[in-house]
Amino acid sequence: MNIDHEYRTDISSGWNRKHILGLQDLSRDELNIILNQAAEFKRLAAIGETKLTPLAGTVVANLFFEPSTRTRISFGLAAKRLSADTVDFSASGSSLSKGESFIDTAKTIEAMGVSYVVVRHKTPGAPQLLAQHLDANILNAGDGTHEHPTQALLDIFTIREHFGKIEGLTVTLVGDILHSRVARSNIWGLKKLGAHVIVCGPTTLIPSEIEQLGVEVSNSLDDVLPRTDCLNLLRIQFERQRGHYFPSIREYAHLFGMNKQRINKAKENVLILAPGPINRGVEITPDVADGPHSIILGQVSNGLIIRMACLYLLHLQRTASLGIPG
Ligand code: CP
Repeated sequence: MNIDHEYRTDISSGWNRKHILGLQDLSRDELNIILNQAAEFKRLAAIGETKLTPLAGTVVANLFFEPSTRTRISFGLAAKRLSADTVDFSASGSSLSKGESFIDTAKTIEAMGVSYVVVRHKTPGAPQLLAQHLDANILNAGDGTHEHPTQALLDIFTIREHFGKIEGLTVTLVGDILHSRVARSNIWGLKKLGAHVIVCGPTTLIPSEIEQLGVEVSNSLDDVLPRTDCLNLLRIQFERQRGHYFPSIREYAHLFGMNKQRINKAKENVLILAPGPINRGVEITPDVADGPHSIILGQVSNGLIIRMACLYLLHLQRTASLGIPG
C-alpha cells in the first residue's frame, strides 16, 4: 500500500493559506480541514504508519525565544514524522546577546534553506512580523498573551474526539484569562465551531470587554460547573503578571481549583483539559489531574498530529505556490 498517497485525499482541498498565525484569522472550514487532516494522521499512526515522506528534503526551523516543553518537542517530532530536516534555535547562547536583531536572526536561519519557521516569542505579533519579512511559511507557537493556535487546535481536536462534536457543547475556560494566549485562541476556534464558551476566574484576571467575543463571563466556578461539558484549566501566569491579582494562591485554589469535591458537583462525563504546564495544587489537584475525567496527556499526544497537519497543509500551499505537483 502506498501510504503517502493515502493521505492526499480531499481532506486538504480548499487550503491555500501560507501561514498559521492565529485562529482569529481562520474560517470554520479551515479549522475543520486542519482537524480532519490531523484525524487522518492519527488513523495512519494507529495502523503503524508513523513515518511519512511529504516533507522530505525540506527544513523546518524551530525558533523558541521563550521556554517550552510540549510545543517545542511536538513540533520537532511532527517535522521528523513528515521526513523534514529540523534545526532548533534557542535564544540563550545565540548571537542575540551580541546585539543581532530578531528579524536578522530569523533571516540568517532562513538563509540556510529553511522553508517552514515555527516561532514562539514573548511579544504579541512576532510571528506576523516574520511573515512580513521572510519567504518561509510561518507557524505561531505562542506569541505573548496573543494567540497559541496549535494549542487551541489540539484542545478542540481532543474535545471533538471525545464528544464526537463541538457544536452545542459548553466549554469553560478557567483561570488567568487576562494573560492567556491559549484562552484567546480557544475562544476564536470554539465559537466558530459552535460551542458555548464561558470564561471563569477572578474579576482581576478577566479582560474587560471580553463579552464582545461572544463569551459568557462568570466569577464563580461552582455556578457554571453543573452545565459545563469541558473544563480547560489555565495556569496562573505569574511570569507575565505585573501585580497581585488575588490575595493568595490558597484562596485562588479554594475558589477556582478543580478538586474531587467539585468533580462530584460536575456533569457525570465532564472532560478536564489543561494546556500545561500544570501547577498541581493550584488550578488542579493531583487526584483530578491523574483521574478518570482528565485527558491532559491525551492532549499532548494529539498535539503531535495537529502539528503534523499544520506543517503538511503549509507544505501543500508552498508546493502549489511554487508550481510543484503535490
Ligand atoms: N502548552 C504549552 O504551550 O506548553 P509548553 O510551554 O511546554 O510548550
